[in-house]
Amino acid sequence: MFKKVLLVFLIVIVIISLYRFFFNVKNSDHRITVNVSEKLTTWVGPSHFQIPTYTNKNGELIQYGYELIAHTALYLGPKGTVQHTTNGMNCQNCHLEAGTKPWGLNYGSVFSTYPKFRDRSGSIETIYKRVNDCMERSLNGNALDTGSKEMKAIYAYIVWLGSEVPKGKKVNGSGIEILPYLSSSANPKQGKIVYIQNCQKCHGVNGEGVLDSTEKMYTYPPVWGKHSYNDAAGLFQISKLAGFIKNNMPNGINYHTPTLTNQASWDVAAFINSQPRPTKDKSKDWPVLSSKPIDYPFGPYSDSFSEIQHKYGPFEPIISSRKKNQ
Ligand code: HEC
Ligand code: HEC
Repeated sequence: MFKKVLLVFLIVIVIISLYRFFFNVKNSDHRITVNVSEKLTTWVGPSHFQIPTYTNKNGELIQYGYELIAHTALYLGPKGTVQHTTNGMNCQNCHLEAGTKPWGLNYGSVFSTYPKFRDRSGSIETIYKRVNDCMERSLNGNALDTGSKEMKAIYAYIVWLGSEVPKGKKVNGSGIEILPYLSSSANPKQGKIVYIQNCQKCHGVNGEGVLDSTEKMYTYPPVWGKHSYNDAAGLFQISKLAGFIKNNMPNGINYHTPTLTNQASWDVAAFINSQPRPTKDKSKDWPVLSSKPIDYPFGPYSDSFSEIQHKYGPFEPIISSRKKNQ
């Protein structure tokens, strides 16, 4: 009897040890992150200096992925070393600090929530598809081959960043904060004044940005014009652009230290998105009309509001009419 109890006890100990062993191995490239399981904590990604280039067999690939996100133009831009398939912007121009900054379009919830169904394409999207969405829209370029070293590297980096986030969980601070809607429409004329006062010195009189001395990459990326994101990109919805600006611009601020009011953020977003930029075929987007976001500026719609109101607001009447029709 005693022997049996001892045996069971030993087996339990072995199982626990094995579990802990594998659990620790999985997290062996440990780094300082906030406790993502805490509800109110805001996720911040690990620094690229913590990429385990020596201990993890994927280390070099992850490091290359980081490079591609931070300095995309050097590899894929008009003067890139791998191919010339983007507008010259870097992923990091929008996914700030290489996708680690709270409310700076970070990648904290990507590995945990993809593949997922997305209304824009009406299909289940993998991380590869989502990366290529940004290639074709935000970078106004061509999709990467899924089997290419570049795509594998970007994937490895995004997985490494989000590997500690429990599957299915969306961490606080990932993506963009959507600001409260204004009661009136956003005003591009006012937005122009905000732009001249707060943005023009970096992004330029014509929104064209400033290239660095090598002319391969931007010091200040374009916000409109032919080298900017196209009209099928996420930032072409003013709610996303306004939320991004409020928490991140002028460059250097963060969500604890915003300098623009909500009103000014909406107005400057309205101004920027009323300026010329490349267009893309959008006829296959949002196959279910009622799933179009309220600030998606291209009809047809499942309601009777105009494209102008869908672009600039006011959005409250659209929301209440949708609620009534549900
Ligand atoms: C012009 C700005 C911009 C650039 C440049 C850009 N993106 Fe994005 N990206 C966005 C926006 C906006 C979203 C949508 C965020 C949302 O809907 O909340 C997004 C979403 C994503 C997502 C999904 C995020 C999530 O949490 O669901 C991934 C992955 C992504 N981008 C990868 C990339 C990669 C890789 C590059 C460079 C090849 C890139 N993006 C370049 C603006 C940009
Ligand atoms: C001090 C210079 C500076 C100022 C002022 C500034 N920005 Fe930026 N902005 C940047 C830089 C640099 C980036 C890219 C960040 C990176 O790559 O890390 C950026 C990125 C952006 C982006 C995303 C990338 C793109 O080009 O589409 C938008 C949109 C943007 N800024 C809008 C604004 C707005 C609106 C203002 C004024 C409220 C503003 N910025 C003020 C330097 C500035």
